[in-house]
Amino acid sequence: MGGNRLGFDLQHTHLQPQEATLLYGLVQAFKPRHLFEVGSYQGGSARIIAEALIDAGQPTTPATFFMIDPEPRISPIHAAFLADKATIVAAGSPDAYQTLPRSAEGFSFAFIDGDHAESAVHADLVAALPLLAPGAIVLCHDSAYGPTRRGIDRAVLDGGFIDCGDLIASPVWTDQFEDGERVFWGGLRMLRRAG
Ligand SMILES: C[S@@+](CC[C@H](N)C(=O)[O-])C[C@H]1O[C@@H](n2cnc3c(N)ncnc32)[C@H](O)[C@@H]1O
Repeated sequence: MGGNRLGFDLQHTHLQPQEATLLYGLVQAFKPRHLFEVGSYQGGSARIIAEALIDAGQPTTPATFFMIDPEPRISPIHAAFLADKATIVAAGSPDAYQTLPRSAEGFSFAFIDGDHAESAVHADLVAALPLLAPGAIVLCHDSAYGPTRRGIDRAVLDGGFIDCGDLIASPVWTDQFEDGERVFWGGLRMLRRAG
């Protein structure tokens, strides 16, 4: 197991340990009743979310937690753990939002970590708005990556979100450049649905 003092599993995730800790702590503190994740990959971040809610005394179920990914590659260890805690939606966002159940209260938490292109991030956020409850928390991973940051900026400018800013100041430096801009990964930026 990944092993750490908080007790959640850090295997098969792209999150840095401090990002995982923040995700775990926010979810445990806010106890969202209905939530979804965009970009599940091997299931690492979904597992942290599910563990946080178990530890908060409010376990997720397949009717309350949705993992959206057009190409999910959930590791066997996380697949076994998540089987009775989440529904995997094997389709890409934002189209995949159509398949999510509409509850009167709406989703109160979303973790966005799918396609990091500017237009994709913008589309994921704008299309998520009608699904979200007022005050819902939206946590965007890799906000240090230029295109992702600009996609978030555009969604905030469009209206409907309150920008709570970057919660992590430890971007992952790379020696790569895209369009003359250095590539950084990592970062968690928090938005809240206005209203
Ligand atoms: C960085 S990985 C996610 C890592 C995961 N959140 C974690 O930390 O454990 C990005 C994932 O986004 C998925 N993805 C790409 N386009 C997507 C889309 N339109 N909707 C949802 N997921 C998408 C990819 O298939 C990939 O599995």
